[in-house]
Amino acid sequence: MGKKSMQVLINDSYAEIDLKALKNNFFIVKKLFSKSSSKRNINNKFICSIVKADAYGHGMLRCAEELALAGTDFLGTADYSESLRLSAYLKTKKINTTIFCMGTLPTAKTYLEVIANENFHYTIVDVNDAKILNSVAKSFNKTLNVQIQVDSGMNRVGFPIESAYEAIAEILKLKNLNVVGIYSHFATSEIPHHKFAVRQVNAFKNFLHEAEADLHKFKYKHISNTGGVFNHNDDTFNFIRPGISLYGYYPDDEYYDIKTGLKPVMNFKSKVRFIKKVPKGKSISYGRRYFTDKDTYIASIPVGYGDGYPRSLTNKGEVIIKKKKYDIVGTVCMDWVMIDIGPKPEVKINDEVILFGAEYPVYEVAKHSGTIPYEITSNITQRIPRIYINKSR
Ligand SMILES: Cc1ncc(COP(=O)(O)O)c(C=O)c1O
Repeated sequence: MGKKSMQVLINDSYAEIDLKALKNNFFIVKKLFSKSSSKRNINNKFICSIVKADAYGHGMLRCAEELALAGTDFLGTADYSESLRLSAYLKTKKINTTIFCMGTLPTAKTYLEVIANENFHYTIVDVNDAKILNSVAKSFNKTLNVQIQVDSGMNRVGFPIESAYEAIAEILKLKNLNVVGIYSHFATSEIPHHKFAVRQVNAFKNFLHEAEADLHKFKYKHISNTGGVFNHNDDTFNFIRPGISLYGYYPDDEYYDIKTGLKPVMNFKSKVRFIKKVPKGKSISYGRRYFTDKDTYIASIPVGYGDGYPRSLTNKGEVIIKKKKYDIVGTVCMDWVMIDIGPKPEVKINDEVILFGAEYPVYEVAKHSGTIPYEITSNITQRIPRIYINKSR
């Protein structure tokens, strides 16, 4: 028996990660992106698959490997600790896909030296940071590839578009930094035809027009996350940064019935481990937030907020057993959740429970707990084993 099936047997709750679905989603996104290209640009398009936050909970290393095998041009991370972990793994697998780190540079020189030893694409959001990175690169006799982030309306990080021109002019003077890319980030791209997103595209395009005419030609120009790929494809941009779509979801559950062809990658599952007959009028779980309205049977499932299954599903969520929905009753505990299986239950001990996945999309769980699919999958904790299926190697 392999190590992985042992894991399944030891833990009743686990997340099955379908790598074939991941690849399917990658190719859907790629197709959408290439559709928007003029003939001139078709061979000059780059996909940076976003694998930050442990690939939104799906397991960064294995997902990155699969995406690299599918042909992603870059792998996108949010900070340098993720980037270093990923880099070490890719080396062991002899994969040389470039890591693009969208996070800010570390402030301590020792850490800058560690990252300057790598061949990442480094994001620049501050001229002083760029100067320090440049001096570290110089001391190593290296030239590092950097991408400049410009803020066109998100107001999070990046050079404000109004002052970015002067900043870029300064950065271009630094001889040990090679400015290969420029990018911005959408605030509302997931809402089809949203005016603010259109304004961002136009502002960034106007800025690029001027900066490229006077200052520098950028090899990589980008603004699109998943929402951008679906709603704001524009041939000016030749690089995309999809995240959530790779894992099978459209970013906004209000629009989730849009036919995307995306397939959920994570199937979060457990088993029924205990069944109890409970008379009418009895309370279930902590805080006595639920009382049975009839004589019924209650099934207990060994999963809870300690696994990242949201406590906000208390008295609201549902699970699927043999294609049937069952209501969560009472407070979701750290390690247990209870469901009402009715007075004449068809459910038995050891039956498989679908918490979410292909049979029950994360959108539903996200809606019940007042959040978005991103947060649900990213929050699944390390206690839950990730079992990879349909690997391409
Ligand atoms: C800068 C940046 N680019 C791309 C992405 C990917 O976004 P999405 O998962 O909506 O495709 C993110 C995710 O938050 C991001 O912060």
